[in-house]
Amino acid sequence: NKHLLSAADLSADDIETLFTTAAEMHDVQRREVKKLPALRGRTVINLFFEDSTRTRSSFEIAGKWLSADTINITGKGSSTSKGESLRDTVLTIAAMGVDALVMRHSASGAALQVSQWVDAVVINAGDGTHEHPTQSLLDAYTLTRRLGTLEGKHVAIVGDLTHSRVFRSNVIMLATLGARVTVVAPPTLMPSGVGAWSQEAGFALSHELDEVLPKADAVMMLRVQKERMSGGFFPSPREYTVGYGLTRDRLAVLGPDVPICHPGPMNRGLEIAADAADAAQSLILDQVSAGVAIRMSVLYHLLAGEGSAA
Ligand code: CP
Repeated sequence: NKHLLSAADLSADDIETLFTTAAEMHDVQRREVKKLPALRGRTVINLFFEDSTRTRSSFEIAGKWLSADTINITGKGSSTSKGESLRDTVLTIAAMGVDALVMRHSASGAALQVSQWVDAVVINAGDGTHEHPTQSLLDAYTLTRRLGTLEGKHVAIVGDLTHSRVFRSNVIMLATLGARVTVVAPPTLMPSGVGAWSQEAGFALSHELDEVLPKADAVMMLRVQKERMSGGFFPSPREYTVGYGLTRDRLAVLGPDVPICHPGPMNRGLEIAADAADAAQSLILDQVSAGVAIRMSVLYHLLAGEGSAA
């Protein structure tokens, strides 16, 4: 594929290739090798219409460590705040002669739409509640390094499914890698249509976290995305924590070897207790580190000449 818009763009072989390259990038990440020349002369624009700490900075670091020229543009500081349309904005940027657009936008499908307007490579860095494919790559990479393989492993994805692009990309990614997935959420945070999708894609649904946790090989907690809840948050924050939070008590049930993931940013005390976030089995900062290696790998395979894996 020319672009990376969805986790479904990647076969198991593609993912394996991306993981192998990501592992090779750790020498750069350890700063034993300062930079690789692979993308010298290439220009990567990070075009972020929604806020980001991890994704934007890791794409910028990844591009710079591969010697690309990386430029950040945010919605707030761009002419979209003067009313310029998304199409005019991306055509304007593309006209300057860029090789890749890494794009985050609040509209589901925005990255696909932009890929139809420009010749540059488009990488989806999160489109509304739809997908966040590089997040699912770094999540799967982190878990693979801890568990050895994801084939046959049982992963519980817990939380605000309705608003989660991370959940959507991870369900696809984990299925491609042979994991069994159970998604857990209160009925008010299960998206419509998830029942049919779960049957088609082969993942299980549950409202009972305490039944699922003891059977999980890994747990992914999701952020409660209050900023996307115009109609209010049900259940209440306290009820949510009691029913679906990874609390200190649930951490004890989980056992010390079950990895805990969270894509960040976290609502500490709501979906995850500080004891769980900071536990020895927490991979949350490993996920952040893996984000740089994975994004180096994605940029490398999409931009550095022939034979791209992604
Ligand atoms: N996980 C994630 O996408 O984090 P940011 O919003 O900080 O990029």
